[in-house]
Amino acid sequence: MESKRVKKAVIPAAGLGTRFLPATKAMPKEMLPIVDKPTIQYIIEEAVESGIEDILIVTGKGKRAIEDHFDSVPELEQILIEKGKSEFLKLVEETTNINIHFIRQSKPMGLGHAVLQAKAFVGDEPFVVMLGDDIVQAETPCTRQLINQYEITNSSIIGVQPVSDEETQRYGIVDLSSSVSETLHKVKSFVEKPVPGTAPSNLAILGRYLFTPEIFKYLETQEPGAGNEIQLTDAITRLNEMQRVFAYEFNGKRYDVGEKLGFIRTTLEFALKREDLGDDVHKLMIELLENRLSLIEK
Ligand code: UTP
Repeated sequence: MESKRVKKAVIPAAGLGTRFLPATKAMPKEMLPIVDKPTIQYIIEEAVESGIEDILIVTGKGKRAIEDHFDSVPELEQILIEKGKSEFLKLVEETTNINIHFIRQSKPMGLGHAVLQAKAFVGDEPFVVMLGDDIVQAETPCTRQLINQYEITNSSIIGVQPVSDEETQRYGIVDLSSSVSETLHKVKSFVEKPVPGTAPSNLAILGRYLFTPEIFKYLETQEPGAGNEIQLTDAITRLNEMQRVFAYEFNGKRYDVGEKLGFIRTTLEFALKREDLGDDVHKLMIELLENRLSLIEK
C-alpha cells in the first residue's frame, strides 16, 4: 500500500511553562529566544525543511505573542524599507510566509488533550507532533527522518534517543519488544516518567512524533493519567495494541530548552557557532571563567 504524504504538523504550545517563571507569567515559554530567535521559530523551520505544508499551533491563555510573531507587521516593515535595513526586513518577513493556523486549548489538561484539539485540522491524514522543548540539529531534519521511516513502515513512528539513567524519570520511556534494525524498534509499551530504577530502557521520547490519524480514537477516550493530565504516552500505548507503533532513534544533536540549564547551554552553544558572535562569546566565556576561578582561589 502506498503511504499517504505527511503534510501537516501540530505544535502543542499551551503548557504553563512553570519551570521558567517568572519569565512565563505574561510571555509564552515558546517565545524565549535562543540568541535572537524564539524557540518556536526553530521548530517551524524544521517543519518547513521537512516538507510540512500546514502547521497548527495549539495555544492557550497568554500566548498572543506567538500569533503576533507569525503575523506581518506593516508599520515595522515600512520603517525598515525607509531606513534601507533590508537584512532586518528579511528576518521580519521570514516568519510570515508560512501556513500557520491556531487553535486554543481551553485548559491545560495535558499534552494528549492538546493534541486532541488538532483532530479537525488533521482529518484522515498522517501528521507529526513537534514539541518546542526540544530543538534538534541534524543533517536531515529530525521530522524528515520520521517521515522517511513512515514511508517505509506506513506506521506511527516515535522519535527517541538514549538518555542517562538519572534522566529517565523526566521522560516518556519505551519498553522495546524487538528491533527491526539498529535504529528502528518495535515497542511493547511506553512508560511516562518512570520512578528511578524502574525504567525499562534508556530510550526516551524526545518531542518528535509521527501519528496515523487513528491516534485520535484513543485520545478521545483517554482517561487522565499521571499528574491528572490526559497523557499522550497512554494513548500511544493503546494505539500500539491495535496497530504497530515504532520507536526510531533519530540522528542529530538534541538540545533541551525546556529546563533552565539546558536552555543556557543551548544559548551558549548556538552563540558560539554564530559567525557574527562566536569569537566574542568565546572571549567572554573565558573572561567569566577566569574571574570565577580567581574568586575561588582567594
Ligand atoms: P511540559 O509539561 O513539558 O510543558 O509539556 P509546560 O507545561 O509548558 O512546562 P512546565 O513543565 O510547566 O515548565 C510538554 C509540551 O506540551 C505542551 C507544552 O506547551 C509543551 O510544549 N502542553 C502541555 C500543552 O500544550 N497543553 C497541556 O495541557 C500541557
